[in-house]
This record gives sequence, C-alpha cells and structure tokens, in this order.
Amino acid sequence: MTSFRYMGTKKYLALKVKRSIELASKSGHVADLFSGMGAVAREFSSSRPMYLNDALTFPTICSKAYFLDNSLKIDDQLLKKLYGLFRDHRTELKNVFKRRIQRERNAIEKGINTLAEWMIHAPHVGNSVHYQKMKSAAKKAEGIYHYQLTTLYYSGSYFSTTQAIDLDALRFAIDGVCKLEDNYPLITIWLATASILINSPGHSAQYLKPNSPSSYSKIKNGFSRDVWATFIGLLDDYSPCGNSSWRRKNMVSKNDALLLLEKGLPEEVSIVYADPPYTNDQYSRYYHVFETLLLYNFPDSTGCGRYPEGRFSSPFCLKTKIVNAFEQLFCGVFDHSIPLVLSYPSDGLLSKVGVDVVEFANDMFAKVEVIENQISHSTMGASKGSQKKSAVEYILTCHPA
Ligand SMILES: C[S@@+](CC[C@H](N)C(=O)[O-])C[C@H]1O[C@@H](n2cnc3c(N)ncnc32)[C@H](O)[C@@H]1O
Repeated sequence: MTSFRYMGTKKYLALKVKRSIELASKSGHVADLFSGMGAVAREFSSSRPMYLNDALTFPTICSKAYFLDNSLKIDDQLLKKLYGLFRDHRTELKNVFKRRIQRERNAIEKGINTLAEWMIHAPHVGNSVHYQKMKSAAKKAEGIYHYQLTTLYYSGSYFSTTQAIDLDALRFAIDGVCKLEDNYPLITIWLATASILINSPGHSAQYLKPNSPSSYSKIKNGFSRDVWATFIGLLDDYSPCGNSSWRRKNMVSKNDALLLLEKGLPEEVSIVYADPPYTNDQYSRYYHVFETLLLYNFPDSTGCGRYPEGRFSSPFCLKTKIVNAFEQLFCGVFDHSIPLVLSYPSDGLLSKVGVDVVEFANDMFAKVEVIENQISHSTMGASKGSQKKSAVEYILTCHPA
C-alpha cells in the first residue's frame, strides 16, 4: 500500500480477520478502531464500508489518502506548479542555511569521526537557543518563512540538511497548491518520501549514528538521496484503494478508541474490529518524526531522539493501565450491542500482567469464538530481543448475546 514500515501490521492475518468479521455480521460499516495502515480495510476493498480510526494523525492521514474519495487531480499542470514553488523555496532556504550545508559536507567528507561529531553537536531546536529563536519566529511566520520545521528539528540527523530543506520546500509547495482537505494524497506521498529517506536503524525512534564503517557509508549514501525524485517516483505508484463509490461511504477519524466508544460510534457501524498494540513500545515514540512533520506544529523538542512534547501515550502499552484499557474496550463494545473481533497475541503485554485475553473476553461477553494462528510477528527492532518473534495470534469473535 504505502512505503511505510508499520509495527504490528496485520497484512498476514487480514484475510482471516475478514472471514471472522463476515461470519459475525453481514452488512453495515466495519469499525477498525486501531486501524494503523488499514490492512483489514484493504481486504474489504469495494465490498464492505469501513470506518477507520487511529489515535495518531499520521496513519489517519494515510487512511484518508487511500480509503476516502479525494477530488485532487494529479496531472502535469499540478506538478509544474508544485515544482515551481518547491524550487523557489529551496533556493531561499539553501541561502539561509548555506554555512550549515557546507559544514555538513565537510564533516561527511572528512570521515566517520567528524561526521559523528557533527551529528551529535549540530544545532537543532532541542539543543540550541539560536534554533529555538528561529523556531519561534517560523512558528509565527506566514508564507514562505513558516516552512523550515524539518530543517530546524531534524537536519544533520534523521535527514541531511539538504534533504530537510527539500522536504520543507516540498511541504510549502503542497500547501500552496491545495487546501489540506484536498491534499491528503500529496501529503501522504510527501510523508512516504520522508519515510524512505529517513536515516534510521530500522525503526525511527532514533536516528542511525556512524558507529562503524558500514553505518558511516550507509549514512553518507542515504544523505545524498534526492527528495524530489523520490517523491515523483512514489506519486507515480500512488493509487487509492477500491472503487470511488466504496470510498465515498468510508469514514476516517483520529481518536482515542476508548473515548470514541464512550462517546458512541456512528450508527452505521455494525461490528468492531480491534487490533490494539501488544507491546510496551509506544507508537508515538516510533513514529514521532512523521507525526511532527505532518502536524507541522513546532513543538518543544527533547533528548537526542529530538522527541516532541505531548506525545500520545496508549494505555494498551502500559502495564499499569492495560487491564483497565481492555475492560473499557470490552464494555464499550458490549454497550453498543454489536460483536467485537479482536486480534491479539498470546504473549502480548496483557499476558505479562498475568491476564489471559481469552479468559478475560469470556468473562465479559455472552459467547466467544477463538481461532489460533501460528505467526511470527514483527517488533521492528523495537522491543528487546529479535526482530521476529513466533507466537500464537488469537482472533476472538466476541458476541454480546
Ligand atoms: C497493532 S497496530 C494496528 C495495525 C493495523 N491493524 C494494521 O494492519 O496496519 C495498533 C495501532 O493502534 C493505535 N493506537 C494505540 N493506542 C490507541 C488508542 N487508545 N486508540 C486508538 N488507536 C490507538 C496505534 O497508533 C497503532 O496504529
């Protein structure tokens, strides 16, 4: 679907989840409350209307690009306009940051130690009073001077300074050609460009440092990759999912699933699918760069990972809150008098606090059907230990009556 590598994607299980949903409910919208990259919605393409929800902005915008009907016409005329705006802003920013670009080039050419020094000490909003002042000015500015966030926060680390400037220039161009509600495909492809170019060790919680000759050459090569060429390549491959009459019926929202259940689901919804996180790795930490790029909101930034303030913290990733979170999920769906299909691994975080997910569901619902799947799930290198772990992934169908 997209070029995003997403922790916990259910691509491998989506067909089985679809079958369980179809057995439990024949029509109406399927609410995928933890939709991520929408693997299950893709399986229902053009056949059953979907309501996709996630707590993070970045997967939500991707869902809007792929599962809603977007009116934006991507043609040569639009690209010409985009490129003109991109080129003008890039020239302007390259001039503002020319000393920085030169220092970075020198650091790369001199070798591994100077590059490591540069990446640790290069100024950014989290470590430099001067950059904090530039950030405050850019936050307030309108027009071209607003568009410097990537450079001020993530250059010389997650991206080279030139790439960061190009990403800012491209964002300026995208925002200049259409309103946000019309530009989900362009913004999503812009983010996908960042996800391809990002300098990271497999996950994007932190950036890759030049600790060895191989990481040095990986960074050196990666830093020279071109933003516009990557963007155009991805744009060529973009195609929304399903047919337009299906996409017109779909809905997308960004909410904490538990609050959404409390507020009440849209009345079209006839079944809930839940695929909550199953480790203590907060998604908002692993995808913080994409979330900030998308929001373009100039947050305070801390730590060597350059984390934004106020990241969303999911109770499903906290040992102290997970039992309560599952109880709220189960009760919330039960109160709607509709079935719940849940996917969750036997060794998920819930088991680490001594609670068996199948027994828990049986306590809360009138009837629970269980399918066991032998799987090897991805940790993206996020959890301690190996990147692939084998486990049993349950698909539970929970009936309220
Ligand atoms: C296991 S992933 C879902 C993957 C998705 N099924 C797919 O195939 O791409 C869990 C998702 O839940 C989201 N999430 C975590 N806590 C949440 C909450 N309280 N409400 C809504 N979404 C939440 C995360 O942002 C993440 O996208």
